[in-house]
Amino acid sequence: MRVLVSDPVSAQGVEILQKEYEVDVKIKLPIEELIKIIPQYDALVVRSETKVTKAVIEAAANLKVIGRAGVGVDNIDVEAATQKGIVVLNAPEGNTIAATEHTMAMMLALARNVPQAHASLKNGQWLRSKLMGVEMRGKTLGILGLGRIGSGVAKRALAMEMNVVAYDPFINAEQAAAMGIQLLELDEIFPLADFITLHLPFTSETKYLLNKERFAKMKPNVRIINCARGGVIHEGDLAEAVEQGIVAGAAIDVFEKEPVNPENPLLKLDQVIVTPHLGASTAEAQVGVAVDVAKGIIAALKGEPIATA
Ligand code: MLT
Repeated sequence: MRVLVSDPVSAQGVEILQKEYEVDVKIKLPIEELIKIIPQYDALVVRSETKVTKAVIEAAANLKVIGRAGVGVDNIDVEAATQKGIVVLNAPEGNTIAATEHTMAMMLALARNVPQAHASLKNGQWLRSKLMGVEMRGKTLGILGLGRIGSGVAKRALAMEMNVVAYDPFINAEQAAAMGIQLLELDEIFPLADFITLHLPFTSETKYLLNKERFAKMKPNVRIINCARGGVIHEGDLAEAVEQGIVAGAAIDVFEKEPVNPENPLLKLDQVIVTPHLGASTAEAQVGVAVDVAKGIIAALKGEPIATA
């Protein structure tokens, strides 16, 4: 059996696979090259950079399993894979804490203008009065998506004495109340929330969930945090809402197209702070997801029971 690892994953995961199979690590492969070599492999391991399109899957004559070292499988055509009998599995737990903590870091950095303060001071400017922040205590945080990461953010926000409201069609009001959270309908969140953080997958239903119409319903001076998926926010509409002063600021880790185009309007706004999809980028998380996905691949190739994505 041969395994192709086409995105950078932690060595611990690769070593687990190497004990069982022949493993090739080939990163930054152009799609044509991937299509050319994929028939040689029984398993493929990716993060989010490799786009496992229908064309890749059609060419994958021997592929039995695709493992995603991370949560989101939106870079994989799961439907095409399933139709071909290829198992798609992910590593849903290993990077939960990393993404949760990055969300808190982005929210605090946004509230206190940390990136702007850092950049201006390194540039020789002492902008104490210009960089006035806001406190989190007593503010309302709207969480869209109360899965592992969303509920981890809620727990930390409650510890900071924020009021937490949330939207999640998959949980009920009692479950939310047990976590100290008020469950609301999506459009009920917008007039209430001082901060809104997204923790939803990218699907046809969540595409552009935050758009011009929704920004218009938001509380003035709302701050938005997105460490989930870029396409869930319409980037042009967000930039406009910031320019119009509806949104006081945004902290964005994920973009509709990655790596992000330097001309993206969000990069031009001082009120928007950004990181290059670092939510899962901790040493601990990368070992966790790589080990989990390696074990999943081995189980799938041996025909043992596995949880599919
Ligand atoms: C995920 O879906 O797990 C994260 O976005 C991290 C990654 O892209 O690897």
